[in-house]
Order: sequence, then structure tokens, then C-alpha cells
Amino acid sequence: MTSLRDYIWGSTRQELDRMRHDATCLKSPTLQVLRHLKVGEGARCMDVSCGTGDSLHLLGQLAGPSGRVTGLDPEGLVGPAALAELTARTMSSLSVFQLDAEEIEEVPGGPYDLTLCRLSMAYQLQPAEMLRKMFRWTAPGGVMLVQEYDFRTIDVHPRPRLWDEFERVVHGVLHDVGVDPGFGVRLPGYFAAAGLGASDGTQVVGALTSFPHTGWYLVATYRSLLPRALELGVTTEAASKEFLDEIAAFPADEHRSTLSALVVGAWKRKPEEEPSW
Ligand SMILES: C[S@@+](CC[C@H](N)C(=O)[O-])C[C@H]1O[C@@H](n2cnc3c(N)ncnc32)[C@H](O)[C@@H]1O
Repeated sequence: MTSLRDYIWGSTRQELDRMRHDATCLKSPTLQVLRHLKVGEGARCMDVSCGTGDSLHLLGQLAGPSGRVTGLDPEGLVGPAALAELTARTMSSLSVFQLDAEEIEEVPGGPYDLTLCRLSMAYQLQPAEMLRKMFRWTAPGGVMLVQEYDFRTIDVHPRPRLWDEFERVVHGVLHDVGVDPGFGVRLPGYFAAAGLGASDGTQVVGALTSFPHTGWYLVATYRSLLPRALELGVTTEAASKEFLDEIAAFPADEHRSTLSALVVGAWKRKPEEEPSW
């Protein structure tokens, strides 16, 4: 499943820049919600899909020297040197396990005061099952937090003439690999489907920026998914060239705006004591 993500998004230089931009934009909403949930000094935190470690860093900063932060990811992107650097920067006790959360029932070092899944729930084969597991790994009184994109809001105003091409490629590829482009907004529904009832709260964050500053990000998103879209026959080389030429010819016009994907967060706190009924 994880290779699925790499397969559709690729690993070009532009894709790495795109991911770095995501991490920068996500920092503030993630910190805001973690503070709201009172994740602080001494917290035991689990990041079930830690990727290159951006969220581990945030958790380590909040948990501090008396806290403990554990990351899981089958890709093993946080190697020993990166882990040592993160530990030095946060002073927290960090560890990372090269594990696929879909394939394990128990988590090392659990239970946790916080279980976090950022930007990978939409890629799980069985999201409701993953949510149930995460909640099981959460300690009584602790909280489970999931953040995921809703890609359907990405838009440009005034719209490029060939904007349909962007949506065809992005939505077409996501649908093909079973990823719901509107997953973020459906997140509370997945909590209910997991038998957890309603989420305790949600956070919805988006950005409206001027096209000259963020147009490159849209192009990077499109280009990352383009090879797969061409394979699928969702678009053609000619249609793609026409779209990219149109975007490239836009003047540095501050009147044109880009609306981002939404970042949707939803959380659920586990009761201190399980009800006896
Ligand atoms: C978009 S990155 C997000 C990384 C990190 N959570 C963040 O927000 O910076 C998605 C990561 O989720 C990981 N992932 C996906 N499915 C997973 C699973 N079942 N168990 C553990 N990690 C998983 C992938 O390997 C990838 O590194």
C-alpha cells in the first residue's frame, strides 16, 4: 500500500519541493490542534506514518525531554542520523520502527497519550480498521488525531481555460488507486464507520494565495501525477502540453488566486475509564 503512494506521486525534485511545501503549510494547523488537545511536556506520542519525520519533530518539541515519541513507517525514511538530529533538536526521547501499521495488531511502547495519523489515512486499504487500531493504541484519557487532505477544493480564480485537465489528472489518478480525493471531509464519517461514534471536534484549514506565489505548487502536483495519468489514458501528451503551456503563459498577475486543498483534522478522546455497559 505504501509503495502505492510512491508509485503515483513519484520522487522527482519537484515532488520533493512539493512535499516540503506541504510540511511547511501543515506545521501551524498541526501545532494549533495539538496545543488545543493539550499535548505537552511529558506526553507519550505515536505517529503511525511518520514519513520523513516532520510530524515527529513537532511532537518531540511539545513532549520535550520528559516525553516519548514513537514513529512507524514501512519506508524507513528516518534513518539513524536523521533520528539523532531530531532527538538533539527536540531533546525528547524519539524512536522509529520500520513497520506497516496495517500489518500489526500491537504497537511498540503503547499505549499512547496521543496517536496521530497525518496525511496517510486516505491511502489505507481499510481506513475504519486503521482508526479502530489507533484508538486501541490510545491510552485512557488520551486522544487520537487524524489529519487528511480534501483535494477537491483546489482551484484557481479566474479559472484557466483548460482547468478541467488539472482535475481530470489529479482526481483520475487518485480514484484509480482507490484514494478518495474528498477523504478529508468524509473523515468524521470514517470515525462513525469505525464504531467510534462522532468525532469530538474538527479543524478545517485552507489557504487562498496569489497565483504567482503558488502556481508552481499546482504544476508540481499535476506533473507528479502525470506519468500515471498518461499510463491510464486519463489524458494525452498533447492535452497535457496545452495545459502546461497555458499556465506557463500566465502573467505574474496578483489578481489571480489559488485555493489550496483543505486540511481536515478530526479527533476523539478516549474516556479515562471505559464505560461498564
Ligand atoms: C504523505 S507522507 C506523511 C508523513 C507524515 N505523517 C507527515 O505528515 O509529514 C505519508 C507517509 O505515510 C506512510 N504510510 C502510509 N501507510 C502507512 C502504514 N500503513 N503504516 C505506516 N506508515 C504508512 C508512507 O510510507 C509515507 O511515508
